[in-house]
Amino acid sequence: MIKINENYLKLKAGYLFPEISRRVNAFVAENPQAKVIRLGIGDVTRPLTPAITAAFQKGVEEMATDSGFRGYGPEQGYAFLREAIAINDFQSRGAEITADEIFISDGSKCDTGNIQEIFGLDNKIAITDPVYPVYVDTNVMAGRTGQADAKGQYGGLVYMPCTPENDFMPELPSQPVDIIYLCYPNNPTGAVATKAALQKWVEYARANKALILFDAAYEAFISNPDIPHSIYEIPGAKEVAIEFRSFSKNAGFTGTRCAFTVVPEELKAWTASGEAVSVKNIWNRRHCTKFNGVSYPVQAAAAAVYSEQGRQEVRGLVDFYMNNARTIREGLSKLGYKVYGGVDAPYIWLATPEGMGSWEFFDLLLNKANVVGTPGAGFGASGEGFFRLSAFGSYENVCQALERIAKI
Ligand code: MLT
Repeated sequence: MIKINENYLKLKAGYLFPEISRRVNAFVAENPQAKVIRLGIGDVTRPLTPAITAAFQKGVEEMATDSGFRGYGPEQGYAFLREAIAINDFQSRGAEITADEIFISDGSKCDTGNIQEIFGLDNKIAITDPVYPVYVDTNVMAGRTGQADAKGQYGGLVYMPCTPENDFMPELPSQPVDIIYLCYPNNPTGAVATKAALQKWVEYARANKALILFDAAYEAFISNPDIPHSIYEIPGAKEVAIEFRSFSKNAGFTGTRCAFTVVPEELKAWTASGEAVSVKNIWNRRHCTKFNGVSYPVQAAAAAVYSEQGRQEVRGLVDFYMNNARTIREGLSKLGYKVYGGVDAPYIWLATPEGMGSWEFFDLLLNKANVVGTPGAGFGASGEGFFRLSAFGSYENVCQALERIAKI
């Protein structure tokens, strides 16, 4: 008899974004004339830029020649991309990350979901609340949690509320934890982490032999020069942190797929008998067994992000989306909404009108304004009473969404 992994049965409903699509599709089926504006999932809308497209095409053409054809590439990624990343994203900011600490992948969703596999099931996991659902769901699937309670919180996880009162930066946990997921600039709240705040977490992790899983997928959207782009800008972080980065949101790779994870040489985890083990070696072992690398043309396209032209074009994309973010933030504020984020991050987090649940507000916006956002409760119990709008739409749609919201 086939036995299922019953941990999967603990998962609540569907994964958040397919669940939203399901509701939107049902609405569209009943209201085919409605012109729905989608500011829900953080999916980019601007096309790939010329420098990136040219490198992508050149990569494809090379593959069609005898001399340029490539079969399996290195599982960790091509050296040309790993080196460009190490120099441009880290060394230029004083973070001593080298190419061999970088693992190219097909996405931060996969990496943040897969990473937990190499750590013991008895680790105590701390997550911020609200949170990107992948961190929670993958720990549920692995069997690190009990059942969900009425609020949707799983037994065994340590939830760290992020609210306007603490500027969406959680307090240090009051009970011992081993693995801490942090995401800054934050999805979903759009908050950022100062150097001092990250320093506090790095010190906590060092003192407690804990690990920080730092999701920096939105670092390109930081405009404040005092906000760190990488956790490795904090002294001592290489001993306690793994960082996740992506080309999805800055360079428009949500459909093209390329990302990377940094696992520093210094990072250690321990066996039950207290023996130190290199996390990088274990992640490399897992990566080589389960992954065969990102295609050559895609890595060539990603490397073009670091060319002079590519850099300017990507800046243009980021500026475009951040102009949307500003428009949403200012527009909603004028309408009397309390809004957060949207300054150093492409998400706007708004408090729903007095007493309204976040799914209730989702339905109101969908039905009355034909605008799709993401209910805060979908990101965790502390997201109840909040709602997320993404800045990744077109400018016209953003303006029209605001006009329609003004009318309800
Ligand atoms: C989001 O909307 O939170 C993101 O698009 C999800 C993701 O990047 O997987």
